[in-house]
Order: sequence, then C-alpha cells, then structure tokens
Amino acid sequence: MTSIELEIDELKIKLKKYQFEYYVTGKPIVSDREYDRLFDRLLELESKYPELKTPDSPTMRVGSDLTHELPEVEHTIPVLSLDKAYSEEEVIKWVEKTERNTGKSLSFVLEEKIDGISIVLYYDRGLLQRAVTRGNGSIGNDVTANVKTIGTVPLSIEYEKPLAVRGEIYLPKSLFAKINKSMEADYANPRNLAAGTIRRIKSSEVAKVPLNIFIYEGFFAEEEALSHVNNLNKLRALGFRLNSRTTIFDHETIGGQFNDLSNIIERMTTERPDLDYEIDGLVLKVDDVQTRESLGYTGHHPRWAIAYKFESPAGITQLIGIDIQVGRTGRITPVGRVEPINIGGATIANVTLHNQSYIDLLELSIGDMVSVSRRGDVIPAVEKVVEKSENSPLWHMPDHCPVCHTPLIQKGAHHFCPNHDCPDQIKGRIRFFVGTDQMDIRNLGPETLDVLLEKGMIKDIQDLYTCDFNSLEGSEGFGSKKIKLIQDGIEASKERHFSTVLASLGIPDLGKRVAQLLVQNGFSDIQNLIQVAREDNWETFASIPGIGEKMAKNFVNAFGEPQLLKQVQALGDAGLQMQSRDAELETRDGIFMEQSWCITGSFEHYQPRSLAETEIKQRGGRIVSSVSSKTTHLLAGEKAGSKLNKARELGLTIVDEQTFLTMIGQE
Ligand code: IVH
Repeated sequence: MTSIELEIDELKIKLKKYQFEYYVTGKPIVSDREYDRLFDRLLELESKYPELKTPDSPTMRVGSDLTHELPEVEHTIPVLSLDKAYSEEEVIKWVEKTERNTGKSLSFVLEEKIDGISIVLYYDRGLLQRAVTRGNGSIGNDVTANVKTIGTVPLSIEYEKPLAVRGEIYLPKSLFAKINKSMEADYANPRNLAAGTIRRIKSSEVAKVPLNIFIYEGFFAEEEALSHVNNLNKLRALGFRLNSRTTIFDHETIGGQFNDLSNIIERMTTERPDLDYEIDGLVLKVDDVQTRESLGYTGHHPRWAIAYKFESPAGITQLIGIDIQVGRTGRITPVGRVEPINIGGATIANVTLHNQSYIDLLELSIGDMVSVSRRGDVIPAVEKVVEKSENSPLWHMPDHCPVCHTPLIQKGAHHFCPNHDCPDQIKGRIRFFVGTDQMDIRNLGPETLDVLLEKGMIKDIQDLYTCDFNSLEGSEGFGSKKIKLIQDGIEASKERHFSTVLASLGIPDLGKRVAQLLVQNGFSDIQNLIQVAREDNWETFASIPGIGEKMAKNFVNAFGEPQLLKQVQALGDAGLQMQSRDAELETRDGIFMEQSWCITGSFEHYQPRSLAETEIKQRGGRIVSSVSSKTTHLLAGEKAGSKLNKARELGLTIVDEQTFLTMIGQE
C-alpha cells in the first residue's frame, strides 16, 4: 500500500466512525471542525486520485442518506387537482352543465381514481429526464432515481419532443402487509408506504419495494392532440402502463345516454374491494382535447373533468396551523391544528404530524383539506391530503427552537432542540419525573408545576425537594390543605425504589424494565453505573441480556453528563433512594411488564375503573382502550360486552376481578 492509499484508508475508517456516532447514536465524538477538516482532506485526495475512490467512501453519502431532504424543483406544467362530486346526481348535473356551456353533445371517459402518489414524468429527446412529485402543484420533489427503479416506468421512449405525463404510483394491496413487515415499518396503508418509499434517499432500498404505476394523462405538443382516448392509445403504444378499466361514453355510438353512467358507477363501486390497488373514486373526463381547452381551467382544477369521490370512513377537515412541541428530550413534534371535527364520538382539534419526513410524505401545506382518522387507540392522525390549498407553500420546520430560539439539529427523521435548559424541556422533564408511571407524586399536576416554574421556585427536578411550598400559602389555588398534600407526596416519593428513581431521570432507553434489569444484574447503586461510565466501559452494560450496544453506549454517555451527575447528587442528598434496598422487592413490582391490558365492564373494587388502570401501570403494564391482536390481557368486569367477545375470538388471557386481586396479591 502506498502512503496515499494508507492515508485514504485511515480517513475513511475515521470518518465512517464519526458519521455513525453523529447520525446513528446521535452523540458526535469530534467537533464539526475536525470532522470537516478530515472530510475535506479525503475529498481532496479522491479528486487527485479518482482511481482510489470507492463506492462506499463517506464522501459518497453527502446530501444523500444523511439529510433526509429531496431537491425541490419547479414543474413546467401546472399540476392541477380535480373538482369533486359526492353523489351520482352531482356528476350527472356536471355533465349537463358542461354540455350546456360548450353548446355541444360531448363524449366522456370514465376512469378509476387511483389512490397513490401523484407523479409527473418529464421526457425529452426520448429519455426520462425527471420524475417529480406533485408537491404544491408548482413545486415538487425530484425523485427521479427512485422512480427509475419502477420496472413499468419506461426510461426511454420513441418520441423526441418534450412530453410530460401524469400518473399515480402505488403499491399493490396484496403486498402491503408483507412489505410493511419486511421494512419493519408501520405505515397505515399502502399509499403511505408507497409515499414513504418514493421519498427514500437510497434508490437501492426503493428497488426492493415492488411499486407500480398507472399513467392517466399525457401532455403532448398541442398540434398533435386530438382526443383523450387518442392520447391514451399513443401513451400505451409508447410503452406506458395504463389502467384498462376505463369506459368511453361516446356520443356518436350511444347517443348521449348517460343513464348507464349510474349503473357503471355502481358496478365500479362494488368491484372496488376486488382490485389489487386502492381507488378513492372515479374520474369523468371530457374526451375532446379542443373542447377541453375551450372549457379551460381554474387555478385549482380543469373544468373538463370531475372526480366522483367515494365516501371516506375518516373525517375530512382543514389544517389551520402547525404548532411545534418541544419534548423533554428536546425532540420536536409538529402538531397540526385542524378545524374541530367529530370522529367516532370524539372532537378532534389537534393531530400528530410526527416529524418533517411525515409532513413531506403527505406534501402538506397549511390550509389543505385533510382526512383525519383515529388510528389504533387514541391519537388522531392525518391520513392524507384530500385537497390542496391554493398557492400555499409546503410546510417546513423552522430553523430555531420556538421556545428558546436555539438552532435546531436533525438526527434521523427528527429535529431536536439541543439546549438542555430549554424551558419546555425542563417542564417536560419535571412532568415526566412526577408522573404516575414514574415517581407518582400526586397533586403536582401540569398547572401546579407551571405556577412553581413561573414563580421561579423550581428550575429543575431536584428543586422540588428543597423549595418551600409553605411560601405558596395564600396564592390562588394553594390552600393549606393542598400544600400539605403536595408535601406529603414529595415525602412519599422518597420511599420509591431505586429502579423507579432510575427510570424517572428521563435517560433515553432507561425505562422501568431496563432499570430493573440493571438492578437484577448487580447495578444496585447509582455509583456503580457512574463508575462504569467513567471507565467508558459500555461492554459491561451490553453484557446484560436485553441491553444492546447502542443502549449501552447511550448509558455511558448519560451517566457521564455533568448535569445528570449534579442532579443525582442533589436527589441523593434530598433522601431519594440511590441504591437498592432489596433487588427482589424491586422486580416484584414489574409483574405486568411487557403486557398490554384492556379493561371493560364494571367492577366492585375499582370504581372508577381508572383505579384498576393504576394498579396495572404501577406494575409495568400498558393500558389500551381497544382489543387488538397486540393486546395480551382483558380485565373483564360485570356486563363486559363486545370487547369480551373479541378477546375470546383472539384468544387473549381474560381475567376477572377476583383473579386480578389475587394476581396483585390483594386477596
Ligand atoms: S386527472 C389535470 N385521472 O387524483 C388532470 N387524476 O384529486 C388532473 N388521480 O392529483 C388529474 N387517478 O393524483 C386524473 N385517473 C385519474 C386519476 C387522477 C388518480 C389523482 C391525481 C390528482 C388527484 C386529484
């Protein structure tokens, strides 16, 4: 090996490690400056000696896997949406109106409205030049490399002039479950999976997903266009994949009898479940291209087509804003504010939007009409955009934390506020610490904590143990009774087991189960954990079954943080358990660990039912509001109804009140 080769090799090894630490574990181990210096040196050497550049060089990853961003490009055709009708009558009325407006008898084409990802393919000189998502209609994302992995997209065509075609990318329904599982993903439906895939940065990953496409519009040079049917035939002849399930209402042959339009709509609606792709409606289009031009366009849709929309099981409402929440770990969650809507008996005004990638996937702008569902248990989610607002920009995360104005950083799909002292992070940490699943300090709800923070009585968790609650006496809402209850709660928290204290510190990955694992495996004193971190000995943690390398390294980092050490010291001084008094006692508490319980019916001991919830949660179990295959137990009281039947069907463990009391040792 020459000295140059050696240097390149060394640089690659170092940079790969640094990239891993930065992007995967989220804990950079060198300064940005040092990283840039090495990176630039590698770039320099690779450009001097291109023969030494390998496809796996860290320099090849720039602007790709690491940023989660796709280039934005302008469309050269307006990517319009469709006008909508929700009943057959509305469709027939639209036909009549359109014929009246043109003063002609017209021919129409009825197509399926594919529920996939809208895409525009731009060809020139016979080659696919660009594939661009719809975006907001004038700017979309360039996803060419990914779209090229779809076997049914022609990369070259026998047509030299510029040609734009519109189509829909979709994932066959029959493959959805399998692919979702193999990707270890949790997409709600085939469309979201396809959207997530098409936005992936590595085309090699995209190639593993069997996406497909239907093309439904071609934008040929004007002088050549005759009719839609003619265009479709030309597209087919050029090698595009078209949906064959189209119906032509030809005025010449059927004499404008649109009676059978209703029959066909009905038939296609019934056949919908048998298709291997999702459709969310039908589209009726004027066939003649000249007539189309004379009818024209609004800023939103062509006047020559209408979508007949199937009824959606979810609610449709407008996104009126996006708020940003800063969690206790600094993680930023965008939360959508919607026009309040009733879904399944609950009024929904906020919806989670997860992160920027999810928003990108939906191509979301404020003002869009969105379909909202209550997925799984409780958290309402935006399923998709059903109608784009006009000219509204796609939403982007701000650069700075909205609370403390620190520049945000990105790790994987999420943005973080890196300021440990960000007021919302502090608030989140304290709320978490006192929560029922952690230290369970009663009478310290969010409002009370807000008052304490506002008055400057507490600045972080440890101050709860030194602040003078008596000084609150006389303030609004703080009678002597309430103050006494708070003080009692604080006192009682000093009796919580060491593993509970450990799990309340808010260290990533260190929940109750892991805390108990650590205690069981000899880490019965916080000083042991700190010592391991001091020795940078992550392997010791990783040798415990159930603790992986990534988690172990996180712990080494966490227990080395000066802020945490200071906090631990203060909490210990205040009298909290910083060592285990009885390892066995600690773990007995976790009898429902990893279990997920649903509660139904009425109980003799547990009134209200939330009392039973607390018993389960305190023992490490999770509470779910509905029975699914992921539920492990059903606590069934008197008059248990459909949930009991479902639990029987699914073969869950069904527990009655008496058995439950025995399980928790109270009978
Ligand atoms: S025609 C100007 N035809 O529906 C042409 N659109 O809600 C307008 N779509 O953005 C589109 N199947 O993504 C057309 N057979 C079809 C379609 C179709 C699905 C989508 C398309 C469009 C959206 C409008």
